[in-house]
Amino acid sequence: MDVTDKFLERIKQHKESTKKDKFRGYLSDYLELIEAGKQVPVLAHKHLYDSIIHYGMDILDDSNSRCNKIFDGEPVKIYNYFSTHFFGMERSLEKVMRFLHSAAMKGEESRQVLLLLGPVGAGKSALVEHIKTALEKSPAIFALEGCPIQEEPLHLIPRSLRPSFKEEYNVPIEGDLCPICRHRLLTEYEGDYTQFPITEVSFSVRGRKGVGVVPPMDPNTQDTSLLIGSEDISKLDLYPEDDPRVLSLNGAFNVGNRGIVEFVEVFKNEIEFLHTMITATQEKNVPSPGKQAMIYFDGVILAHCNEAEWNKFKSEHTNEAILDRIVRVNVPYCLEYTEEVKIYEKLLGRSDYNCHIAPHTLDVAAMFAVLSRLKSSNKADPLTKMKIYNGEEIIEKGLIRKIDIKDLREEVEEEGMTGISTRFIMKAIDAALADSTKEMITPISIRDALIKQVKEQVTNTDDRNTYLQFLQKTLHEEYLTILEKEITKAFVTAYEEQAESLFNNYLDHAEAYVNNTKIKDKVTSEEMEPDEKFLQSIEEQIGIKGSAKNNFRADITSYMFSKLRRGDVIDWRSYGPLKEAIETKLVASVRDISRIITKSKSRDKKQQKKFNSMVQTLMDNYGYNADSAEEVIKFASNNLWRDS
Ligand SMILES: Nc1ncnc2c1ncn2[C@@H]1O[C@H](COP(=O)(O)OP(=O)(O)O)[C@@H](O)[C@H]1O
Ligand SMILES: [Mg+2]
Repeated sequence: MDVTDKFLERIKQHKESTKKDKFRGYLSDYLELIEAGKQVPVLAHKHLYDSIIHYGMDILDDSNSRCNKIFDGEPVKIYNYFSTHFFGMERSLEKVMRFLHSAAMKGEESRQVLLLLGPVGAGKSALVEHIKTALEKSPAIFALEGCPIQEEPLHLIPRSLRPSFKEEYNVPIEGDLCPICRHRLLTEYEGDYTQFPITEVSFSVRGRKGVGVVPPMDPNTQDTSLLIGSEDISKLDLYPEDDPRVLSLNGAFNVGNRGIVEFVEVFKNEIEFLHTMITATQEKNVPSPGKQAMIYFDGVILAHCNEAEWNKFKSEHTNEAILDRIVRVNVPYCLEYTEEVKIYEKLLGRSDYNCHIAPHTLDVAAMFAVLSRLKSSNKADPLTKMKIYNGEEIIEKGLIRKIDIKDLREEVEEEGMTGISTRFIMKAIDAALADSTKEMITPISIRDALIKQVKEQVTNTDDRNTYLQFLQKTLHEEYLTILEKEITKAFVTAYEEQAESLFNNYLDHAEAYVNNTKIKDKVTSEEMEPDEKFLQSIEEQIGIKGSAKNNFRADITSYMFSKLRRGDVIDWRSYGPLKEAIETKLVASVRDISRIITKSKSRDKKQQKKFNSMVQTLMDNYGYNADSAEEVIKFASNNLWRDS
């Protein structure tokens, strides 16, 4: 009973806190609100734009590394309303918002349909849902009481008074009364529009208030009443044929008036069915069922579909009229794997999973997804391209490889419109989890699940082979590299310090070498030549041989000193190629012991202690649990340190 009592109390509080006196009044009251600036009548596009922009916006400029590396240094607008829900699709969102912004300013866009075009699972439906939710959270609008299309009360004002209204209030009025309100005005209020009651209406998707949805229809059951409502047959007996009281204005365009009309998978519909869409955009009118005049429509039309349907539709030139009315925004798959990981995290967070996800598991899945989505390049292999698209530095022969993401983008026309979908990955995650006896998934189990799923579900042979190559070779090797580094870090006590000390030594010796000076021993103060052997032992890790060393040493020295001059802090991670060399050297330095200790079934006491401490570090510092640590160590010892 206690719980119920408590909860009932909660309900009571909630009711009170959400209770807000709904406005009810007349034109005079409404006009006063407008004059006082408490209410600004706006059209649908502006209302929607405002309700999204209200959450704020940031600009990612060239002080941000993602802006520089991913977006070619062009500033990107980040809209707070989307940024917590959608990842790696900033460019598409920017276009959507640009559309809404121009439409809000009554540009040509206000007479266009916004079409989101993208492959399955790219987030089109989720995006439209989220946009609709923005309306639900937005302030209520004022509407004529009882109006089936919640129309703007200013429609009451006769045409002849509108110019002076505009002058006084600086608000233009668009549109005329709907047939139902007009009829009521004449019959119930004897034409006295100051007596027509006005109220507030909130947007509601489920309540079909300000949001209309048109699902894809089977051609046989397609019926325009879905769009524009119908005549109520039961009332046809009561009223004359042209009496507005027979109308049921409950079609998507009626319901979505002043808000959004959504066309789901729009081109699955017959073309005839879509003509209403043109009229609605072009003329801002929709037909009325029966014999009434056209009905004014003010709303944002959002449509979405995939590329195959779009291409089919586009190829028929009878569709030109509609095409002319469409602003297309591509919604490709995410091509940055660290952003893709955030999608999985979002989707996993939503379900009841309570399992352990070993480090790098989602990365491996996301890398696979991105690899499958990228088109091949003449300038970089797939893995390299994937990393560049992720904003990473590519180290090659001691240099940061200068491939511009822009050049890679320019090689291809559209990218991210094909490949593995987010859903495919989520299914593999589910499968890996279902197969697990230990309530966990690891890079190893996710890869197995993906391989299995590709074999079962990808029917195109070329795709299947490419995907399997990615999983069985490219990512297998990539993961081993990641894993070896991680295990090394766990093995080497005080890894950071060791790396830092290698770095400092290297810099001292390289500088002396470049300047032709000597090094002073810190302890004995003895002067000595730069240690060539030591320098080379680092450089050879990244394949620097022969005279290449001169440039490398000079580059590093000047790079580091210019950083220091600017007051930047430098450490062993500061210069990509050197970081890589140091890491590789540390990995190599413990390779033997790693092999012996991870492999041996009968470790001596000292080895066992070292092993335990490594496992503990993996758990404490790197996010493993005992089971996943065991699994990856086993994997490493089978694949990395083969006895040779
Ligand atoms: N870039 C992304 N950011 C966030 N979530 C995404 C992204 N792409 C896809 N999703 C998620 O994937 C799921 C499938 O997307 P959905 O909207 O049904 O795709 P579509 O309608 O394009 O086929 C949704 O839950 C969506 O939230
Ligand atoms: Mg969809």
